[in-house]
Amino acid sequence: MKYKGIIFDLDGVLCSTDRFHYQAWQQTAREAQAPFDETVNQRLRGVSRMESLEIILEGSPLTFTQAEKERMAEEKNARYRQLLRQMTPADMTDGVRAALTRLREASLKLAVGSSSKNARFILERLEAVSYFDAICDGTQITRSKPDPEVFLKAAGMLGLPAQACLVVEDAPAGLEAARAAGMDCAGVGGADWPFAPAYALPDVTALPAALLD
Ligand code: BG6
Ligand code: MG
Repeated sequence: MKYKGIIFDLDGVLCSTDRFHYQAWQQTAREAQAPFDETVNQRLRGVSRMESLEIILEGSPLTFTQAEKERMAEEKNARYRQLLRQMTPADMTDGVRAALTRLREASLKLAVGSSSKNARFILERLEAVSYFDAICDGTQITRSKPDPEVFLKAAGMLGLPAQACLVVEDAPAGLEAARAAGMDCAGVGGADWPFAPAYALPDVTALPAALLD
């Protein structure tokens, strides 16, 4: 077995928070008179909150000061956190839980590597903290994906060298970050990958079979 650790992205891989991000950003886009649709939303996957705001504001005819941008990002996050309160353990499927359990039983170390500053809050809502040996999130990094920082830090927390880790990602920015970290990547879902991931899987539930059977 080539890998000793697996580093999972959170949003879009272990659970789906997409609809909440979408809803919360929609109001920001309205305030900025910027168009907002699924195509813009796709570009926000894996990138930090402030970078996401900048992407939305590309379509705005208005200009905002740094202080206004910070206020907009804060308000978006308050709306998002309010929506996240709807999440329950049922938002992490039995299939995902079974996959994590099987990988742990195969003596693999598991980590979360997420750009989100809300990652721990979400994992707590899902009652999923205990699956992981390490959680590295947006509160612990200064550069978001496609920078490799979050994955390198997660590998360090697991005590593993980069090449012993496999990243699991749903976003092109995450695939790029894994490559920059010197890690293989399993791409899940239907993203338009800029280059072929080591494994292309429909979702996380297919991972144990791909690695262990
Ligand atoms: C990533 C999401 O996991 O976290 C992005 O894919 C999001 O869409 C980013 O912008 C930052 O999230 P948060 O919760 O810190 O605003
Ligand atoms: Mg993601």
